Amino acid sequence: MSKVTVVGAGNVGATCANVLAVNEVANEIVLIDIKEGLAEGKAMDIMQTAQLMGFDSVVKGVTNDYSQTAGSDVVVITSGLPRKPGMTREELIGVNAGIVKSVAQNILKYSPEAILVIVSNPMDPMAYLSLKTLGLPRNRVIGMGGALDSSRFKYFLSQAIGCNANEVEGLVIGGHGDTTMIPLTRLATYKGIPVSQFLSAEKLDEVAKSTMVGGATLTGLLGTSAWMAPGAATSYLVESIIKDQKKMIVCAAYLEGEYGMKDITIGVPVIIGKEGIERIVELDLNADEKAKLAASEEAVRKTNSILYASGIL
Ligand code: LAC
Repeated sequence: MSKVTVVGAGNVGATCANVLAVNEVANEIVLIDIKEGLAEGKAMDIMQTAQLMGFDSVVKGVTNDYSQTAGSDVVVITSGLPRKPGMTREELIGVNAGIVKSVAQNILKYSPEAILVIVSNPMDPMAYLSLKTLGLPRNRVIGMGGALDSSRFKYFLSQAIGCNANEVEGLVIGGHGDTTMIPLTRLATYKGIPVSQFLSAEKLDEVAKSTMVGGATLTGLLGTSAWMAPGAATSYLVESIIKDQKKMIVCAAYLEGEYGMKDITIGVPVIIGKEGIERIVELDLNADEKAKLAASEEAVRKTNSILYASGIL
């Protein structure tokens, strides 16, 4: 029996619970929110699709009762405000840090062995805050951003090439921010062939730029941040943990010397299995990629410093 809790029944949390259920990632999925009735309503709505979609997972909605989350194998934290058009993810830190900290503490009380997946923005600092607050080993706190950004990268690559997105491979490392993420175009492939054989340098540059502002573009179109791909990317990551799939996924991981960085949580390729982050994969980056990663590191550290300056850490 496997149990996953999703904290926050907003768009991202509810979509994540829906994809987890439809794909039968876990037997039991608890959706919890502070807003009276919201999680219950979303869970009931999802469960009314069970017969139509043919799944056996059970989704249960609860208001603020953390005892119902007890014994979860994985807990996804989506709590906090989403961004509005024109906002950066980093601007959310003031509101979301306090929320994420108290949610993480409540979760650990009832699921002391759980692996935490942090989705709330700004994602890299929120993963850092959760890890530092709870004092957990680094394998148990995973920031979800790279799975989403890499999926967007593959989408834009497939659009540019005119091919099926499932036949494209690509990684986006660094921070989960409009200016901090790094689509690794040099290493991206279509059917194992470098994408540079199909797209010009200018076109690749355009793809990278579209990827970086992928979330902001959707926020502009939707009036709030996206939820379909964020929810699905989170479920994809949770599935690799629950089913011990050992997939290589870019996640925000706490680094202890890898890529020359320490005491920071930032997006790098990792192997995800039942222990959470089981291994960090160190890529052989070129000078340009290293310089971009150094700039990304600096930006993420700057946001982390707000956590210390505000006294929340
Ligand atoms: C996005 C938000 C969820 O990238 O960070 O859409």
